[in-house]
Amino acid sequence: MSHRTERLKVALRDNLLPGFLFRLRAAMQGIPDAGSYWPTFQPWRSHREFRAIHAAVKGHTLLTAERLWIVYSLARQALATKGDFLEAGVYRGGTARLLRHVIDSSRNAPVLHVFDTFKGMPSIDPKHDRHREADFSDTSLEAVMKFVGRDRVEYHPGFMPDTFRGLEGRRFAFAHIDVDIYKSVRDCCAFVYPHTPAGGLMVFDDYGLPSCPGARAAVDEYFADKPEFPLVLRTGQAIVVKAGNDP
Ligand SMILES: C[S@@+](CC[C@H](N)C(=O)[O-])C[C@H]1O[C@@H](n2cnc3c(N)ncnc32)[C@H](O)[C@@H]1O
Repeated sequence: MSHRTERLKVALRDNLLPGFLFRLRAAMQGIPDAGSYWPTFQPWRSHREFRAIHAAVKGHTLLTAERLWIVYSLARQALATKGDFLEAGVYRGGTARLLRHVIDSSRNAPVLHVFDTFKGMPSIDPKHDRHREADFSDTSLEAVMKFVGRDRVEYHPGFMPDTFRGLEGRRFAFAHIDVDIYKSVRDCCAFVYPHTPAGGLMVFDDYGLPSCPGARAAVDEYFADKPEFPLVLRTGQAIVVKAGNDP
């Protein structure tokens, strides 16, 4: 480490950090759950139900607590819209298990449709993608079924878009699209968007991740001529709320 970097580190530790912590503590005076402000309110640190399901899924998902909180909150919101839930990109089942938890709490009883090869990534497009074929192959359909459960969950193993066949009559109030690569994200948009009712939500997990430039390109291209404008979050996720007025 250079002399300059070392001096900067010491200055930060000895001067700026204590000052920041002091001001943060002062601003939190009188707030009962002050521990969940860092420096703004971060409910994923204190929400009791979420913390319990987070503890259950964290060894089975690539998502951080903050990204899981976004999925959890939007899935709960989507219960207000009529339609099934869908997840494209399941890997070891962490986010699918979280979604199963949300639908279990609903009286509307939506079904959760989950799509994956359960054997790893299909071939990629080197022009757009940084992943490699067969990434995420350390999983299996049997292991995911055991972890996520079978009640109200329909498994569609194989390659998307082939595995969307037969579901043309369904409507999806919530879709979590976590497939990382250009063609898979494009195929998901092409199937899910027309099957989403007004008010339904599409959550793209990897839109802003530097490891997934193809995901962002696919979303931007697909929505370029649609009325919706994806909301991009600092977590890397992007959210689309389907516009229109369904009868
Ligand atoms: C990042 S992982 C999903 C992570 C998971 N949601 C979690 O909770 O950690 C991406 C998954 O997408 C799947 N996938 C990508 N493209 C696919 C396609 N065209 N058909 C089927 N599965 C695909 C891969 O097999 C992989 O398991």
